[in-house]
This record gives sequence, C-alpha cells and structure tokens, in this order.
Amino acid sequence: MAFTIAVAGKGGTGKTTLAGMIIRLLAERDEGPVLAVDADANANLNVVLGMELEKTIGDLREELLDDIRNLPPGMTKDTYLELGIEECLVEGQGVDLLAMGHGEGQRCYCAVNHVLRRYLDKLSDAYRYVVMDNEAGLEHISRATTQDVDVLLTVAIDTPVALQSAARIHDLIDQLDLHVAQRFLVINNVNGTDRGRLDEHVAKTGLELLGVIPRDEGVLELLTPEQRREEVSEPTFEPLKTVYERGSVPGCHDNAVFALVAWYEMVGFSWEETREKVVEWLHESGTWARGGFEEATPEELVDSKRHVYDAGYGWKEKAEAAKRVIDRTA
Ligand SMILES: Nc1ncnc2c1ncn2[C@@H]1O[C@H](COP(=O)(O)OP(=O)(O)OP(=O)(O)O)[C@@H](O)[C@H]1O
Ligand SMILES: [Mg+2]
Repeated sequence: MAFTIAVAGKGGTGKTTLAGMIIRLLAERDEGPVLAVDADANANLNVVLGMELEKTIGDLREELLDDIRNLPPGMTKDTYLELGIEECLVEGQGVDLLAMGHGEGQRCYCAVNHVLRRYLDKLSDAYRYVVMDNEAGLEHISRATTQDVDVLLTVAIDTPVALQSAARIHDLIDQLDLHVAQRFLVINNVNGTDRGRLDEHVAKTGLELLGVIPRDEGVLELLTPEQRREEVSEPTFEPLKTVYERGSVPGCHDNAVFALVAWYEMVGFSWEETREKVVEWLHESGTWARGGFEEATPEELVDSKRHVYDAGYGWKEKAEAAKRVIDRTA
C-alpha cells in the first residue's frame, strides 16, 4: 500500500508548490516510486514538476461515455479504462504523474467512476508514495484515487483569519467519508512574522503545526529543465554527498560508481552525459588516482556500469554502503 500525502488549503496558499517540493524531494532521495496526483481541475502540478501532460482522467471519462456504444468488439468498459489510465500516466524520473482533470458534467458517471476508482486504487498500489495536490476546497480529495490519506497537510498563510479557515478545512474532513490518519498545518509564505505570535495564533486553532516555509522569491521560482539539471548535477545530501565530495576509496569503488551512475540516470541525464559526469568525478575527486581498479581507464570503468544505467537501479543502498567505507578510512 502506498503512503498517501494530500495537500489542501485555500486558493493560492502554496498547495501546488508544497506538493511539488515533497514530490521532488522523495524522488531525488530515491524514496520513490512516487505517484503524483493532480486533483486540481486547472492542472498545474505538471508545470512545477517539469512534466508534460497530455490527457486527464476527466478526458478519459468523457471519451468512454462518447464511445460506450461503439466499443471495438471484445473490448469491455474495464479494459477501455485500464488502457486509458495508462495513456493518462506521464512517466518521469522516480515519479509518475496523473491528472484528474475537470470535474463531471451533466451526464451520469456512476458506472464509470466505480470502475475508474478500482483501477486507480490498483495503480497506486504500485507506488511507495502517492502525493496529491488538491484544488481549493475539499470535495476533490474524496473523489481522487483513494479514500485513505495517511497525512493531510493544510497550507495557510500566517494571518489569524487564514489559520481559522485552515481549521475549518480540518472540520470539514470529519464530515466527509474520508479516513485521514494524521493531519498537520503548514504555514507558507512567512515573511518576518514574530514566531511567538504565530505560535499563539496556531494554538488557538488547535491544529498541529508541522512547519513554517519562509517567503522565498528565489528558490521557489520554477526551474527550467536546464537549470534543474545544473542543480542536481552535484548531489548535496547524504549519503551521496560524501561519495561525491570525498571520492571513493579501494574497497567501495564498485558501490560508489554504481551509486553515481544510478543517480545521474534517475535525475534524467542521458548515458553520454552520465558517462562524462562520472569520468569527471573519478578524476576530480581523486578516486582514480587512489587506484584499485581492474580497468585501464576511467572511461572503461564507467562503461562497465552501463547495465546499471539501463536497468534504472536505485542509488541509495549502494551509496550508503560506499559512505560507510569512506567514513571508516577518514
Ligand atoms: N514560500 C513561498 N515564497 C514565495 N512564493 C511562493 C511561496 N509559496 C508559493 N509561492 C508562489 O505563490 C503562488 C501560488 O502558489 P501555488 O500555486 O503553490 O498555490 P496553490 O495553493 O496551489 O494555488 P491554487 O489554489 O491556485 O491551486 C505561486 O506563484 C508560487 O510560486
Ligand atoms: Mg494549486
């Protein structure tokens, strides 16, 4: 079963930004696979994630109702939807995206929704995390992939009125047929507010505060794919940071090179770029100079790890193993 995180809140509070940050972080730290669900009719989570959207579940539902009397021979409603959902799924690095699209129109959707729900539940079982971005208001949470939410994050800005309305969202959940295991408040866009006063306001709402996100004009700007590549080309968190910065030592070369190749594959580098990056790292980190390789050149060494790239293995375990050895030899 996937662990489901849903993000809710008033319009423009930063739901999509927060959902996007969570998704990116999970994918980059190899905690995936993540299913990102955009449950906002005006889908824009794809923009934050830098992924291209072609078709939504809403489109699929309408298509089926248009075609239902003329399905190809042998094709049932079930197969139609199952194939259709695959078409809606955008596959990315460690994260796949599904957009729910516009809500329902005038027709009767009950029969379709029933089957749809079953396939979406089945689909989400294939992921470690489901992260759902919702539109302002809560009706959509109940319609989306799953009834069960492990963590609901309500985003609000730091005014007493906004916090009260966040509290109301939580009240609403109790009235919906929705199981939410844990709920937290996240305050976004904070700019120089006195923390003591903020805590007072939060206490009045009775909500549990998970964290405060400062207003940040720079970091939150949408990155172009090029900027993002630049940003991820040097791993800045553990255990990969140690491997990258200190370089590998005899006894963990295999794991270190494996981890870096897997990392570059995961963040979206081509094989040629990955090869170039890892060769560069072998030289610059002093790894190659330390010796202990069977291969004659760094290029040959990286080529011997091509299968890691092709299979899209995870990097985390190997990086942890390499870091342990590097730490011991410090
Ligand atoms: N901490 C922050 N610092 C600076 N800008 C922010 C911050 N959080 C969000 N923003 C900006 O505020 C705008 C609204 O954010 P976002 O789209 O995430 O809100 P939303 O709650 O999803 O909105 P909607 O209800 O329209 O879906 C965006 O332009 C976003 O980049
Ligand atoms: Mg949004």
